Amino acid sequence: MDSNETSRNIRTRWFSEAKIGLFVHWGLYSILGRGEWAMNNERIPKDEYNKLADIFNPDSFNVNTWVSLAKEAGAKYMVMTAKHHDGFALFNSKFDDFNSYKTAARRDFIGEYVDACRKAGLKIGIYYSWMDWQFLGYFAREKYKDSLKEMTEKAKCQIEELMTNYGDIDILWYDGIGFRDPLDKDTLEKIWNTREINKNVRKLQPNILINDRSTTKEDFDTPEGYIIPSAPGRLWESCMTIGGAWGYAANSIDMKPVALLIQNLITVAAYEGNLLLNIGPKGDGSVDEEEARKLKEIGKWLSINGEAIYGCKRAPFTSSHLGLVTVKDNYAYIHVSSWPGKQACLAGVGTEAVSARILGTDIEVGVANKPNGRLIITGLPEKAPFKYHTVIKVEFIDNPTGHTEIF
Ligand code: GLC
Repeated sequence: MDSNETSRNIRTRWFSEAKIGLFVHWGLYSILGRGEWAMNNERIPKDEYNKLADIFNPDSFNVNTWVSLAKEAGAKYMVMTAKHHDGFALFNSKFDDFNSYKTAARRDFIGEYVDACRKAGLKIGIYYSWMDWQFLGYFAREKYKDSLKEMTEKAKCQIEELMTNYGDIDILWYDGIGFRDPLDKDTLEKIWNTREINKNVRKLQPNILINDRSTTKEDFDTPEGYIIPSAPGRLWESCMTIGGAWGYAANSIDMKPVALLIQNLITVAAYEGNLLLNIGPKGDGSVDEEEARKLKEIGKWLSINGEAIYGCKRAPFTSSHLGLVTVKDNYAYIHVSSWPGKQACLAGVGTEAVSARILGTDIEVGVANKPNGRLIITGLPEKAPFKYHTVIKVEFIDNPTGHTEIF
């Protein structure tokens, strides 16, 4: 391993082990409760929309409510919107006055967030949208060249402010470049000067991880709303809402039950990715009760089964219908979603198993190694012991490997 490789591993290791983070979409749109795209979707005139800044003043809000929720959910990091597409920044910007410090709230919410995460031992991610509906240059590049220039200048300066004023930042989570835009990457890169900006970011924050939404691939991929693992060796993170929209949307139907959210977490862990689960707090900063409840349920599940998620790797075999498998050291963890009854069979196992048990119980189960890579697990209870996925932990004599011959 050369020294570049070593320093990359040190920089990326926490991320590859984290598995779960909490995303927060919060801003002026949270007052409206119709999702973070309301300004654009409803063509709300800028002057009218911007008045929301006069009433965005969440007096009794304390960012620790989000940070404690993240901890309770078992998240290892957070990512918070510093400026979304509507252009309103949640930090004190010298460059642009349309921000929470210079309007009604008079607070630097990013500063508060960064401090709270740091105290709680969570890694800190900052979301920043390049595109900005405050500028006509976003909507008609050719016609409003000066405005386009102002918009790109705002992004450059605010990114620099964020990377300079808040100490060590772990993730820069870009968004909104080339969105619904026919331009190719090279042209976008020239317009926004992304390569130079990222170079500067890395100078200011040598350990930062940058996502893939700035025209260059940088450190990690970000499938949105779905799970597509990147090739082994490449970091990736699937971001997902718990309800429908990213920003607060009132009266949403129940789109994702807890079992599905846990299933998604297991899936990303089984393919060496992360899950960045989103909450869209209301304008006053309070978290939707259902979103909070679901996160706490995930946290409870992780408090029993965390060893089968954090730091786990892809398994060299699958479990057919039982559920997905993760591995760590000499162990494989079967995340059972379809309970098999008293006995289960794993196939394609190339290493000898020595014992097995069910996490969160004192139930010891039997293992029988059979020819052709079959592993029979016996003595299971008739019914699944838990409401959500039950994890069977199998111990092997060495790191588990796959058995590829069929007969
Ligand atoms: C999309 C949406 C944006 C949201 C983001 C999260 O890019 O435009 O509203 O913040 O997804 O990944």
